[in-house]
Amino acid sequence: MNDTSDKRPSPPRHADTRVVTAGRHPPSYHGFINPPVYHASTLIYPSAEDYVAQRSRYQYGRIGTPTTEALESAIAELEGPQCAGVALLPSGLAAISTALLAVLKTGDHLLVTDNAYGPTRAFCEQILSRFGISATFYDPTIGGEIAAQFRPNTRAIYLESPGSLSFEIQDAGTIAKVAHDKGAIVLIDNTWATPLYFRPLDHGADLVIQAGTKYIGGHSDVMLGAVSTNAAHIAALKQTTFLYGLCEGPDDVYLGLRGLRTLAVRLERHFKSGLEVARWLERRPEVLRVLHPALPSHPGHALWRRDFTGASGLFSIVLKPVPQKAVYAFLDALTLFGIGPSWGGYESLAIPFDLAPARTATKWVPGGPTVRFHIGLEAVTDLIADLQRGFAALAAAA
Ligand SMILES: Cc1ncc(COP(=O)(O)O)c(C=O)c1O
Repeated sequence: MNDTSDKRPSPPRHADTRVVTAGRHPPSYHGFINPPVYHASTLIYPSAEDYVAQRSRYQYGRIGTPTTEALESAIAELEGPQCAGVALLPSGLAAISTALLAVLKTGDHLLVTDNAYGPTRAFCEQILSRFGISATFYDPTIGGEIAAQFRPNTRAIYLESPGSLSFEIQDAGTIAKVAHDKGAIVLIDNTWATPLYFRPLDHGADLVIQAGTKYIGGHSDVMLGAVSTNAAHIAALKQTTFLYGLCEGPDDVYLGLRGLRTLAVRLERHFKSGLEVARWLERRPEVLRVLHPALPSHPGHALWRRDFTGASGLFSIVLKPVPQKAVYAFLDALTLFGIGPSWGGYESLAIPFDLAPARTATKWVPGGPTVRFHIGLEAVTDLIADLQRGFAALAAAA
């Protein structure tokens, strides 16, 4: 569909254009630029016969409305030609659990990257285990050697690249090829890159998870999840979403659509500012390492260059050893960086973290305390001045 007429031929377009045009069809809503927000549960059929034959474009509010369809088709277009459909869910975590439930059954084994988002790991260990589905964790940087970890009952492999605290980049194409050779399904959490900077379906992934709460929403005011999939898995995804009774409320879908329209310009700024701050931090004497895939010093940099077209504003640093109270003093002295979870909004954030207790397949020994930053849309000069204040407080408390 395009802005004014679906009869015009649609030439191949840059992704920055598609975030503006995808999923929009003004002729269907009286010429207005944006679709209406349908607050809907039930709908009325023209006749009893139509009802019995389900002759209606839409069946029920939970199943889909023109508003949900607009966001689903916009995301599908951004995911690329392999995408056969999208399910919208009430959060990123709901997208993760729904995608896993869509493809797994009792007796299956699942491989999960050791750097997965904490609640993803907990869902596998605490919920999937109750249904007789076992999960084992693997080194995110394993590449083709993952072949040795497949079992006869390995039904799926789960990736998250980069990890959202530790930033390992996975060789998604190689892992997907091995998995397909073994008859397994590939799922990936692509929230960090969004479909603008990495399109996993083009690299062999089967189901792609997006916590729309982050960059798609972009304003820290909505919870939203999406699963995109190829033709082989769309029926299972839609059935699972339907039978678990999952849907996203119309106003939140609209916030997703509204956020999506500015995704390209926001991400470009997050990328540029994030890299500038990361380079500045790399030169600081207090910093041991900066975990940002777009820095040449990052162990996954070559893979990032090969597969990704950009980086978002989320990365971590390893500080040289100081007492934890000095790390807290550093964070508490910041005035522009809020101390809080999540990311992808317009504002900068920072949190301390320790992954040592969360790892089972790999050891987390970074060499010093770790802090994650989300670089927002503020001026970089102000952010750097804020970090300078933080380092002064760190020195005073060390
Ligand atoms: C990588 C990643 N995936 C998924 C999620 C979950 O998204 P939500 O908070 O919308 O449930 C998060 C949340 O922080 C995340 O960082």
